[in-house]
Amino acid sequence: MQKYTNMASLLGLLCTSVMVILVSTNVPVKAAKEFKVGEDLGWTVPDANNTAIFNQWASRNRFHIGDSLSFEYKNDSVLVVDKYDYYHCNTSKPIAAFNNGTSVVKLDRPGPFYFISGNPDHCKNGQRLLVDVMSPHKISPPTSAFPPEPDEAAASPSPTQSSGVLVSVTLSSVSVALIATFVTFLLSAP
Ligand SMILES: *[C@@H]1O[C@H](CO)[C@@H](O)[C@H](O)[C@H]1NC(C)=O
Ligand SMILES: *[C@@H]1O[C@H](CO)[C@@H](O)[C@H](O)[C@H]1NC(C)=O
Ligand SMILES: *[C@@H]1O[C@H](CO)[C@@H](O)[C@H](O)[C@H]1NC(C)=O
Ligand SMILES: *[C@@H]1O[C@H](CO)[C@@H](O)[C@H](O)[C@H]1NC(C)=O
Repeated sequence: MQKYTNMASLLGLLCTSVMVILVSTNVPVKAAKEFKVGEDLGWTVPDANNTAIFNQWASRNRFHIGDSLSFEYKNDSVLVVDKYDYYHCNTSKPIAAFNNGTSVVKLDRPGPFYFISGNPDHCKNGQRLLVDVMSPHKISPPTSAFPPEPDEAAASPSPTQSSGVLVSVTLSSVSVALIATFVTFLLSAP
């Protein structure tokens, strides 16, 4: 009876530690980022000589499921719209609308997201943004345990690959060692 209880609690401990290890190895892969739209400019009407500024900003970044966009603006608004309304600056039936000056939108699926200003004139002058969220099926470099600076990530996504692999290899060996210890413990239990 005593032996049975010991074995059961050891098994429970083993399962718990395996789960903890599995969860912790997943954390670096899922590190989500928040991007500030337009960086220092924020969400505002671009200069007439720079109307593509938001999509140039978007093309310098890579967006993954779970990341979010932060819009900061004054006397303006953000609409999430479909493709047609994005190209026509039609604000009449947005999918979602925000207007309190600070809006965070989560990118919760792959594919394109279309954003326009709630003011059609602002939209026509370039205050619109198209963000394409990467599909999880495409091979993307694993993120390192410590999220890199946004600039670094945008400029060179590949070097983080080796550290990401290193982290998971290290964690795998740790988990193998732990499991081995528990099995030994289990076998030698009275
Ligand atoms: C665009 O024009 C503004 C003045 O209207 C000027 O300050 C800015 O440097 C110009 N930007 C570019 C990229 O030419
Ligand atoms: C916002 O609008 C108000 C009233 O229309 C105006 O007084 C204020 O200067 C505007 N602020 C900005 C940043 O444009
Ligand atoms: C916007 O779309 C609605 C319905 O799709 C349409 O009735 C309206 O005329 C459009 N407005 C503009 C300015 O194109
Ligand atoms: C705007 O609304 C969001 C939630 O929709 C909230 O988290 C945020 O604090 C609000 N910002 C301001 C400036 O009121």
